[in-house]
Order: sequence, then C-alpha cells, then structure tokens
Amino acid sequence: KMGWTGSNERTFISVKPDGVQRRLVGEIVHRFERKGFKLVGMKLLQASAEQLREHYRDLSEKPFYSSLVKYMSSGPIVVMAWQGHDVVKSARKMLGETNPADSLPGTIRGDFCVEVSRNVVHGSDSVESAQREISLWFEHHELLCWEECSQPWIY
Ligand code: TYD
Repeated sequence: KMGWTGSNERTFISVKPDGVQRRLVGEIVHRFERKGFKLVGMKLLQASAEQLREHYRDLSEKPFYSSLVKYMSSGPIVVMAWQGHDVVKSARKMLGETNPADSLPGTIRGDFCVEVSRNVVHGSDSVESAQREISLWFEHHELLCWEECSQPWIY
C-alpha cells in the first residue's frame, strides 16, 4: 500500500485519560484546527489492555510498559486522525517532548502537564507508525475524506 504523502499525509493523535478527565479535549482539537489540519476521524472510547499492548508493542521491553498500559486504560480516551501537509512532524512539534519537563511553553505538553507518565496526549512518531496506529484504532468507514465546500459559509 502506498504511503500518504504531501497534503494527504495523516497522523494519529489521542487525548489520554488524564487529558479527557482534565477537559482538555476541546483545547487540543482547537490547536489542530487553528493550525489548519483537517479532522478525518474522531471518537471517544475505552481502550482495552489488549489494544494498548498492541499500540505500544515497540515499548514492550521497557520498564514502564505495564504501568503505561494501565494508565491508558484507566478511563476514556479520544482517538483522532488528522490530515495535512507534513502533519506527522508538525503534530510532534505541537505536542512537545515526551517528557513535559523538556517541553517548551506553547506546546501542548509544555502548557498542560508536568510528568512523563501523565503527558496528556499521544502523536505518531513517523508516517509508518501513523498508518499502523490509524488502522489499529479506526475502521476504514470511520475515516472520512472530505473537501471544503466551494460555496461560502459566511456572507
Ligand atoms: P514514547 O513512545 O517514548 O514517547 P512519545 O509518547 O513521545 O512518542 O513513550 C510512550 C509513552 O510512554 C510516553 O508518552 C509516556 C510513557 N513513558 C513513561 O511513562 N515513562 C518513560 O520514561 C517514557 C520514556 C515514556
């Protein structure tokens, strides 16, 4: 299967349980909308440990793996697919560093959290990961390809 490139590139973003509980979903969606990316999939769900073990399979040898899976299944998460030019790399910049303490103000993690184990949001680290994660969390029919209407909405 061909990768998404250019303005059709997609990434997988999720608001983690702490982000949902702290009412940060709107804030995070707002940042991606203002940046100009296009929302092509979104839902609130309770992730199973099994899904999360698969999502984080590359980290299965890490000492924090089981606590990460436990945290991520501790409450609902919001999963999203966003599309746009270079969206994978831009989204990682918008998120900040993995450790909020290293994240600059102005980034999501820099503005809203302090601990690596409660870092509010996930974003794919490469185009390949994005494809894998989007197909793990979404059914094909839940991803919409849409174009801006040619009729004006504001007169
Ligand atoms: P990782 O994939 O390294 O970072 P990122 O989410 O920025 O791609 O790690 C996945 C998640 O694991 C990370 O968001 C938070 C958690 N984590 C810890 O709990 N402790 C740690 O020491 C690290 C590196 C990550």
